[in-house]
Amino acid sequence: MNILAIETSCDDTSVALVCATRGRVHVAAQMTASQIDLHRVYGGVVPEVAARAHAETIAPLVMDVLARAKIKKPDAIAVTCGPGLVTSLWVGVIAAKTLAWQWNVPVYGANHMLGHIYSSIIDRPLPKFPALALVVSGGHTELVVLARPDRWKKLGATRDDAAGEAFDKFAKVLGLPYPGGPEISERAAAGASGAIDFPRPMLRDASFDFSFAGLKTAGRLWADAHPRRTKKIIADACASYEQAIVEVLVAKTERAVKKFHPKTVMLGGGVTANNALRAALMQTFATHRGVQLLLPEKKFTTDNAAMIGAAAYFTKNKFLTSWKRLRARPDWEL
Ligand code: KG4
Ligand code: ZN
Repeated sequence: MNILAIETSCDDTSVALVCATRGRVHVAAQMTASQIDLHRVYGGVVPEVAARAHAETIAPLVMDVLARAKIKKPDAIAVTCGPGLVTSLWVGVIAAKTLAWQWNVPVYGANHMLGHIYSSIIDRPLPKFPALALVVSGGHTELVVLARPDRWKKLGATRDDAAGEAFDKFAKVLGLPYPGGPEISERAAAGASGAIDFPRPMLRDASFDFSFAGLKTAGRLWADAHPRRTKKIIADACASYEQAIVEVLVAKTERAVKKFHPKTVMLGGGVTANNALRAALMQTFATHRGVQLLLPEKKFTTDNAAMIGAAAYFTKNKFLTSWKRLRARPDWEL
């Protein structure tokens, strides 16, 4: 089955043609138009600017992807319906509606978080279930258990800011460009992670919830107290801040593994591109026999359309709908 997948939930316009056969999703073509340069001048995503850029880019991207995949008409369409920015989501949804009506093909209205979860099995065989998924992105930090590919339950989520937001805000107070995660990560590589004792929010809390607002404040207070910053001091601060986030994410995930005994741990979301997080997870789960750790390929960590095609396919027909009923769902909780 060839699925044309569309993702416009935030600031990346992404279109992919994925080929789903025998339990595996292969990416025949994918094109993503990043809007980072547009938003960088504002220090973050401006919804109105994002929606306009999606509207300008979506049709040429669809045509280019179909041409690259040498396909005139797919067997189905998958589109992100939420969660995300409402005006951005509607651009993808309208494109999907129009194409589904024109081509008379089925349409899947997929959940973005499920997309991040399934990003770890693009071009890979279906892993063993039950699985535990940790999704860490700019807007979400969630732990999810999946009894089967099409049955999931959220265990916990952030009570305030997401881990990606904490990275982005600390970068901003340090005067680093948007998006901050990769900037912090790059500088952290040359720093000492024990140099500054940043808080580890909710580390010892028994729930599977997260909270990063306090860490964000601690980062801002530290920057205010250290206005003269050398390269070395910035590297130490980035490494220490990153370490605080990594420790909390890894500890909560490990606790969930001990409680729910999943056969697979699936990772997803932009923050899972972070090298320190990837290394800490690999080290931790190397000692858990019988648990397979699945990290997405780096190119599938940030928002991309292939993961939306994968979510449509792996969740069976859970997201199947009609073009008439398809709508943006900005607050769609898992
Ligand atoms: O999943 P994503 O592309 O978009 C959302 O759904 O939010 O995630 C974007 C987030 C941003 O906060 C960005 O700073 C963060 O992922 N990010 C990283 C890294 N690469 C991207 N955070 C830490 N280290 C990285 N290497
Ligand atoms: Zn995302």
